[in-house]
Amino acid sequence: MKEKILVTGALGQIGTELVMLLRKLYGAERVVATDLERKDLPQVTEGGPFEILDVTDKQAMGELIAREKIGTVYHLAAILSAVGEHRPQLAWAVNMGGLYNALELAREQNFALFTPSSIACFGPSTPADQTPQETIQRPNTIYGVTKVAGELLCDYYHERFNVDTRGVRLPGLISHEALPGGGTTDYAVHIYYDAIKKNSYSSYIAAGTYMDMMYMDDALKAFVELMEADPAKLIHRNAFNIAAMSVDPEMIAESIRKFRPDFVLEYDVDPERQAIAESWPNSLDDSAARAEWGWSPDYDLDRMTETMLRELEKKLAK
Ligand code: NAD
Ligand code: SER
Repeated sequence: MKEKILVTGALGQIGTELVMLLRKLYGAERVVATDLERKDLPQVTEGGPFEILDVTDKQAMGELIAREKIGTVYHLAAILSAVGEHRPQLAWAVNMGGLYNALELAREQNFALFTPSSIACFGPSTPADQTPQETIQRPNTIYGVTKVAGELLCDYYHERFNVDTRGVRLPGLISHEALPGGGTTDYAVHIYYDAIKKNSYSSYIAAGTYMDMMYMDDALKAFVELMEADPAKLIHRNAFNIAAMSVDPEMIAESIRKFRPDFVLEYDVDPERQAIAESWPNSLDDSAARAEWGWSPDYDLDRMTETMLRELEKKLAK
């Protein structure tokens, strides 16, 4: 890849690690990280170019992309599911306004655009188990509404204007570098932090509530592989189901107990996030991603647990 890459929302849970990976793969100076404001993440803000960018400001985004001669944008800036239910107007403005600006600029300036969708694009009427690639999408959260609309808009810009748009439907992501930003699946990250800090966790998601989860390294692998895939083979450009594991809180606790036998899991269920979780699938069928660009995850639950506990033990000891 010769041209530069720009990442929006780069100081979030995914952006922090994506920027580090892209800088390793393509060179630090070639990856411009941007976010609404500076946060204490020197691995991103000081490891290469960093700029303040509000994605709802199309002019500022356009000027930066033109000035830096950007060839690919990873558009991560968004308001996630739980925060979105408290601030639906903001979620629409950022998730749809920001994406529309990115798509219009991609049309005008001819760059490739990666945008993640989510398991949140599905809703209560979607088949919950092994949810097919193409199925009913009637989400009942503002976040989910913006994800379905975003998938369709990205398809439209590809078909109508030949913009190179690509994306995946991400499960809940588990990582240890930056904390998650206010989603429903965040419990599956917090449980590992509390396992190290207190050897116990109080879950806001109830036992028996299954959702797809994935270790961050697998998600980043999917981003890079999809962006490097042969476009001729991509049928479902903007909304590939990808999956690694379907788990509930009890399964994660059992996995943690393989390494910390005394770990205690309790429950203090939050009705709002529980309702969102119940509206999402239990597990996704990712056969289209496997067939069209060779998707395959590396981490199962126990490998992820071992890695999370090891890395957090080092991090929290500092
Ligand atoms: P996050 O909340 O951790 O980070 C989002 C970033 O966007 C934050 O750093 C925030 O400051 C920034 N932002 C918010 N408003 C902005 C604006 N107006 N202009 C510029 N930046 C702004 O989110 P994340 O987990 O890194 O998610 C990134 C993308 O991946 C989102 O589209 C999200 O829907 C999707 N996704 C994430 C997960 C997950 O589990 N993390 C799962 C499914 C989909
Ligand atoms: N992790 C995200 C959320 O819970 C899923 O899109 O909002």
